[in-house]
Amino acid sequence: MTLLRSLYNRHLRDTAAGELARSLKRSAARSSEQLGWRIRDLPRRVRATTERVGMALSRRRHKKASHGADTSTTVKNIWYRARYVGRYYRARIGPAWPWLFASRETSNFTYDLTERNRAHLAAMIALVFKLPITEVVGYIDELLGDEALKASVIDRVNALGRGAGLDASAAFGRRIGWYAIARALKPNVVIETGVEKGLGAVVLCAALLRNREEGHQGRYYGTDIDLAAGMLLAEPYRSMGEILYGDSLESLAKLDVTIDLFINDSDHSHEYEAREYRLVAPKLSERAVIIADNAHVTDELYRFAQETGRQFLFFREEPEDHWYLGAGIGLAFR
Ligand SMILES: C[S@@+](CC[C@H](N)C(=O)[O-])C[C@H]1O[C@@H](n2cnc3c(N)ncnc32)[C@H](O)[C@@H]1O
Repeated sequence: MTLLRSLYNRHLRDTAAGELARSLKRSAARSSEQLGWRIRDLPRRVRATTERVGMALSRRRHKKASHGADTSTTVKNIWYRARYVGRYYRARIGPAWPWLFASRETSNFTYDLTERNRAHLAAMIALVFKLPITEVVGYIDELLGDEALKASVIDRVNALGRGAGLDASAAFGRRIGWYAIARALKPNVVIETGVEKGLGAVVLCAALLRNREEGHQGRYYGTDIDLAAGMLLAEPYRSMGEILYGDSLESLAKLDVTIDLFINDSDHSHEYEAREYRLVAPKLSERAVIIADNAHVTDELYRFAQETGRQFLFFREEPEDHWYLGAGIGLAFR
């Protein structure tokens, strides 16, 4: 070291080569200092990197696991819920199989209501007419026990033959409510727009017949555009009224009567239904009750009730042993 220093002092000091040698020595010292620091810092940097990788791996594992759990829960839920839907609708779809082969009906299906549904219907009518529920139940039982009426319907079906698309049974569905209302109200005039086979007509005329036996006169008017409508309406029920053939609005416009019970069941478009209500509005008596057979689809009667200061209720029917989910009775009254 001393020899090197003396050689430097003698030959290189203040020369360019000497300056270069000094500069090389300084940078060698700096590099060695930096290298030392890096070596000393290495364990800390290894630890930090290991921790970072570990955390990243853990995050990835967690994400994968939780995603797997979500997917399997969703699949299980779909299966569970699909079976729920299946169980729920099996009761409805089941009766469709015998019906497909045994029934002749293609529209306006016939069925009885469940016992619970009948009880609810009676409760609603009792509320509307402020009658004891037993009285309304009595009206419904009266209809369901009317063997002469049932025999009349079944005789007509048999006489018309298979081609008429009718089943040889007398099941009235929600029309038992129409009957009970006609018995409770004792209307002077009943109008049913849309008669079709005449099942509603025969039920309403049977109620008027009973009312007459109790001293209350009443007349039935049906309207239908179909000239064959009303084939189930035989005597003695037929003589309780008449069917006005032609467009319902035209027939209603010509009819000069005060209506106590109006049943809309003709053209089921919103517009037509609303026009029927507007047309009969001035002909309705103060105690008039209006029934919408299509209130499970439209809210025209609800609107009419609002506009004319009437109350509105809706009863949903529950067919027994039938795939059809049922229609209902919309009711407007004061
Ligand atoms: C759902 S059915 C009536 C069912 C019947 N009320 C009952 O209780 O079984 C509808 C009837 O309305 C009649 N109809 C449709 N449009 C009509 C209209 N513009 N005027 C009169 N009747 C109409 C049809 O010919 C059909 O017979």
